[in-house]
Amino acid sequence: MRKIIIAFLILVSPAWVQAAGGKNCGKIDCYKANTDLHNKQSLQRGVKLFVNYCMGCHSTKFMSYERMATDLGLDAELVMKNLVFSDGKIGDYMDIAMPADDAKTWFGTPPPDLSLVARSRGKNWLYTYMKTFYADSSRPFGVNNLAFADVGMPHVFEGMEGMKKAVFKTEKDAHGSEVEVFDRFEPLTEGTMSAAKYDQAVLDLVNYLDYTGEPAKLVRYSLGVKVILFLIILLIPAYLMKKEFWKDVH
Ligand code: HEC
Repeated sequence: MRKIIIAFLILVSPAWVQAAGGKNCGKIDCYKANTDLHNKQSLQRGVKLFVNYCMGCHSTKFMSYERMATDLGLDAELVMKNLVFSDGKIGDYMDIAMPADDAKTWFGTPPPDLSLVARSRGKNWLYTYMKTFYADSSRPFGVNNLAFADVGMPHVFEGMEGMKKAVFKTEKDAHGSEVEVFDRFEPLTEGTMSAAKYDQAVLDLVNYLDYTGEPAKLVRYSLGVKVILFLIILLIPAYLMKKEFWKDVH
């Protein structure tokens, strides 16, 4: 019995740790990203944002334009015209031309490939990251980030979101020493988007990166529904058969 209890505890512990929360997005608790992988329109808007705003620096080299177009229901010709800027082909992987050495000189750290970032960091982290850039004049790009302290990436959505200031307050921690904790954001400049619109744009982008991290999820979900439907239908003859078999047994 004890073994079973221990096994059970080990099984549920990751969920436990997550539920317990904690500051798992750097200086704050992660915001929750309510994305929906079935929403093709959201995925389509997401890939557009990704290609236009991120692929200057980041690749997703495990994903080909062709696969992305098929999965997202996009016309291959439109993808070629609107999303493939170079002399690339539809079968190409979504790689970039920036040499890693130059990138290191420019940014201190080369921008990592983002194919698997939704799996390594989690979609809630990504969502929080894109929403918590704030002005910090001590940083090379003039911004810092609550989820990623001293990040070496500019706030690429500044035009859309605007710039904000982070206000911190001093609190005493459990040991009585003073710590700086995040209190609130205050707007500094306005962006082209309302807060709600910006939120949706970030959700679309995160949705797309979530898809990129595991394209098979789309297939698995649709297969899952079919399997469950099949099992429900199978239940009817199974039930009738059971009744038939047991009707003379008392
Ligand atoms: C001008 C270049 C540039 C652009 C454009 C850019 N990034 Fe970055 N990004 C970087 C650099 C450099 C880093 C590494 C930062 C560090 O390690 O301090 C980075 C890091 C990241 C990370 C953290 C990865 C990790 O796990 O450590 C994420 C996530 C990310 N970028 C997402 C994006 C998204 C999404 C976009 C588009 C909306 C974008 N980036 C656009 C330069 C860029």
